[in-house]
Amino acid sequence: MTRVKSFATPHKGLRSLMSRFSYTLGFIDVDDPTQLSQLKDLGQELFTLLTHHAHTENEHTLTLLEERAKGASEHDRHDHQQLEGVQLALEQQLAGLTGNESQDELHSFYLAFSRFQSQYLEHIFEEETVTELLLQQYFTDEELIQQRNSVMQSFDFPMLLLWLKYIIPAQREAENVGMLSGLKATVPKHAFEQIMTTIQGEMEAERFDALRSKVNEV
Ligand SMILES: [Fe+2]
Repeated sequence: MTRVKSFATPHKGLRSLMSRFSYTLGFIDVDDPTQLSQLKDLGQELFTLLTHHAHTENEHTLTLLEERAKGASEHDRHDHQQLEGVQLALEQQLAGLTGNESQDELHSFYLAFSRFQSQYLEHIFEEETVTELLLQQYFTDEELIQQRNSVMQSFDFPMLLLWLKYIIPAQREAENVGMLSGLKATVPKHAFEQIMTTIQGEMEAERFDALRSKVNEV
């Protein structure tokens, strides 16, 4: 039987966004103020989601797991602390870019981000192959769905929108139809339209149109 996977959805969004930031960092011309500002905006969105995600895991997922399996959250919490320090240094480097950096300085930043990305990927792989199994062992699917719903309800709308901007393009259509149908039934109409407009800006037209028509049928 397929079990509920608590980490799959946010991690797909984060993997996609981290790859995009790394890719952009590899070709960006920082002499161009427009490109530099786009890089900073993209990085700001990435670091906002990474910080928010670590808090969500610490305060919800791992806290609930710890209540049922003492010690089971320690490894991931320790990772979060270590990664937070590396992330903070990168955030400061990004904020400090002026456009006057040498090619070597930019390459060092590119490599530093790439190293962080590889550490982060290792961390979320562990969560998805070790912690996920513990969640499935100690909680029923109904409880995991309830946890997911209460986590999503704790997001304010701008944060929900930011997550969906990167999660939806990174997921399969069937996953998106399920998620967007649920949102369509629960958020105000204008908010749902804002969600669809945001997603449209991030997806290939053909994929978005196919998704929209499936969601409209629901
Ligand atoms: Fe994590």
